[in-house]
Amino acid sequence: MPQTKPPILQLDDVRLTFRTRAGTVRALNGASLTVHEGEAVGLVGESGSGKSTLARAVLGLNPERSSRIEAGRILIAGRDVTRLSQAEWEAARGHPVAMVFQDPLSFLNPIMRIGRQIAESIERHAPDRRVEQRVGELIELVKLPSSLARAYPHELSGGMRQRALLAVALACEPRLLIADEPTTALDVTTQAEILALLRDLREKLGMAMLLITHDLGIVASACERLYVIYAGRVLEWGRAQDVFGAPAHPYTVGLFHAARADRDAQGRFATIGGEPPDLGETAQGCPFAPRCPKAMAECARAMPHASVLADGETHAVRCWLYPPTRESETAVERLGEA
Ligand SMILES: Nc1ncnc2c1ncn2[C@@H]1O[C@H](COP(=O)(O)OP(=O)(O)O)[C@@H](O)[C@H]1O
Ligand SMILES: [Mg+2]
Repeated sequence: MPQTKPPILQLDDVRLTFRTRAGTVRALNGASLTVHEGEAVGLVGESGSGKSTLARAVLGLNPERSSRIEAGRILIAGRDVTRLSQAEWEAARGHPVAMVFQDPLSFLNPIMRIGRQIAESIERHAPDRRVEQRVGELIELVKLPSSLARAYPHELSGGMRQRALLAVALACEPRLLIADEPTTALDVTTQAEILALLRDLREKLGMAMLLITHDLGIVASACERLYVIYAGRVLEWGRAQDVFGAPAHPYTVGLFHAARADRDAQGRFATIGGEPPDLGETAQGCPFAPRCPKAMAECARAMPHASVLADGETHAVRCWLYPPTRESETAVERLGEA
C-alpha cells in the first residue's frame, strides 16, 4: 500500500463561539474543510460568514478569553491543534502554516524596517539560517527591489506592503499559506500582480494555499477546489471547474449572480436579498433558508445532509433540493475531496 500523507489541513465539524456583551456569537457551526499538500483551495462567502474566524482558528489567533471551540477538531499535517493554549501556540515553532491578511499594516511593525521584520521571522523559525542572505532571497522571491529592505512600512504602496508581508510569512517556510482577502484592499492592476505572484510562489515552493475571498473571480483564476461558506457552515464544495460549471446551492448561485456584475443603475452589484443570518441563534435548519428563493418547509426544520452531485464525485452540496447521499457524513465529505 502506498503511504498516504495526512492532509496539511483538516477541519472536522468545527463549532466556534465568541462570547460578547451582546451574547453568544456562533461564528462556526460545524465547518469541515480539507487542504491537501500542494493544493490551492478557495474559501468563499459573504462578509460575516466566518472565513476569517476559520483562518484564525487554524493559527490559534482568535482571542483566547472570548472564543471557544465547542466541538469538532482541527488537524495540521495530522497533528491535533484544537485545544492548544496560547502558550502552546507560541511554542509551536516551525509551524507549517503561515497567514497573510487583507491589511498588511495591522501586522507589520510600523517602526521597524522591512528587512529587519523579515529577519526576525527567519530567526524565530529557523535560527540557524544565514539570515542576511535569506532576507535577500525572500525579498527577491516576492519581487521587491532589494533597496526596500531598508524602508519602513508606511513608505511602501499597498501592493508592496502585501509583498513584504508575504516575505515575512514565507520566512517560516510554510507548507500551507492562508491568504485572507489578500487583494481586497488593492486596485485591480495590483490585485492581478499579487495573484500572479501567489501562483508563482506556489509553483516554486510547492506549498498549499487556502485563499479566502468574497470574490469568485479570484477563486476561478487561482484555485483548484473551493468551499462555499455561509453562517459558519460549508454549503457546497468541489473542484472549481465543477462548481463554476454548475453551481448547485441557491446561495452559490446568488454569489455567482453577484460576481457576474449584474449592476444596477448606480453601478452597484446586485446582491442577494434579505438579512444576513442571526448568529446568536442556533439555526435548526439551513441557515440560508430565510433568504433562499427556493426554500421549502423542511429547510427550516433540519440542516440537510451532504449530497454528492452527478457531475463528478468531487462536487457536493448541503441542500434539500438534492437527494442525500446514503453514506456517512464523513465519507461524503471525503468524497468531495478525492
Ligand atoms: N473577536 C470577535 N468577537 C466577537 N465576534 C466576532 C469576533 N470575530 C468575528 N466575530 C463575528 O463572527 C462572525 C464571522 O466573522 P468573520 O469570521 O470575520 O467573517 P468573514 O471573515 O467571513 O467576513 C461575524 O458575525 C463577526 O461579527
Ligand atoms: Mg474576513
